[in-house]
Amino acid sequence: TPFTCHPEPVTTGLEHSAFLKAARGEAVPHTPVWFMRQAGRSLPEYLKVREGVGMLESCMNAELITEITLQPVRRYGVDAAIFFSDIVLPLKAVGVDLDIKPGVGPVVADPVCTLADVEAIPDLTPEHLPFITEAVRTLVGELAGINGGTPLIGFAGAPFTVASYLVEGGPSKEYAKTKAMMYGAPEVWDALMTKIAGISAAFLRVQVEAGASAIQLFDSWAGAVNRDDYVRFVQPWSARVLSSIGELGVPKIHFGVNSGELLDLMGEAGADIVGVDWRVRLADGIERIGPERGVQGNLDPTLVFAPTEVMTARAAEVIEAGRTARSHIFNLGHGVIPSTNPDQLARLTDFVHAYPLTDDR
Ligand code: CP3
Repeated sequence: TPFTCHPEPVTTGLEHSAFLKAARGEAVPHTPVWFMRQAGRSLPEYLKVREGVGMLESCMNAELITEITLQPVRRYGVDAAIFFSDIVLPLKAVGVDLDIKPGVGPVVADPVCTLADVEAIPDLTPEHLPFITEAVRTLVGELAGINGGTPLIGFAGAPFTVASYLVEGGPSKEYAKTKAMMYGAPEVWDALMTKIAGISAAFLRVQVEAGASAIQLFDSWAGAVNRDDYVRFVQPWSARVLSSIGELGVPKIHFGVNSGELLDLMGEAGADIVGVDWRVRLADGIERIGPERGVQGNLDPTLVFAPTEVMTARAAEVIEAGRTARSHIFNLGHGVIPSTNPDQLARLTDFVHAYPLTDDR
């Protein structure tokens, strides 16, 4: 062996990961694919292990987290695992009284209204999350041996989307209370966003330090605000979350539903990859995001209910459009719908993997 002063490169077993290559903007052998909400709901093996166990309880049990995260990787051979948890789990961990109700979503017992309410929420420290650290470590070990090494995506909710649950007390259509706070009590809003930014950043840091290879920051409901309000009331805190883990060096994906008007701004918040929902023609999304960042998306999640050849023809259009981007990670335009037939997602995964990318990327 030739003499070298350089230490051996750290080998993680993920050198050949198409997902990580695309996430870093490098050439890929095939378009990588994973699905938002791939862990859970639509899988019979998920419903079986969840029998009689509450959602939050599952999210605090390292063994269940590990099993549920691995299920879609085993079944589909997707290019990445998404950590099984929820965007409100860190709030639960610091003591906020909330539940995740089946078919409803997160419900908060005492919604946040005043500055005192904000100040009563403790900051998150790694000591709140021993089960997360344990589950990530176990998962990273297991995933190294699946399909030549499968990376784990850690995630958190972006401050706006998490704030919407805290202020509304549950899911919302209009976000009226949330926006009333934004417009009517900006100092309370800023304090709340600062509080959540710290919590989401700490949640991401725990996952990455335990071995997650990439992160996704979900701002699912940010599409509720216009561009000017996004810049004033939302983006600074998403940017704070993303920059706070910048030194850890993992690729960062940023996604929102109905976010077509915000795609460039969501990229400028500090993402490497911007997730595009299915309402936007992917080619238009790529133009808005620009050549500096990659894209993720964006097949309409209902296309799994179409005949397989209709679904794959649309998937081919998405892949072709994705080739004009800096890099492209295939996904649905939002989460897997619970009634999805897993066999159809298996066919979709195989189709994306087999799709030829003939010219040199
Ligand atoms: O598979 C994965 O994506 C990983 C796990 C995951 C869950 N929630 C599990 C879950 C992830 C990444 C999330 C993120 C999340 N949670 C988001 C952002 C992503 C998105 O979908 O836009 C949001 C907005 C939440 C809040 C939340 N939690 C909602 C809106 C719901 C759905 C209510 C429903 O059932 O329709 C939940 C519950 C939830 N989170 C379930 C799962 C598997 C269902 C649990 C159950 O019903 O027992």
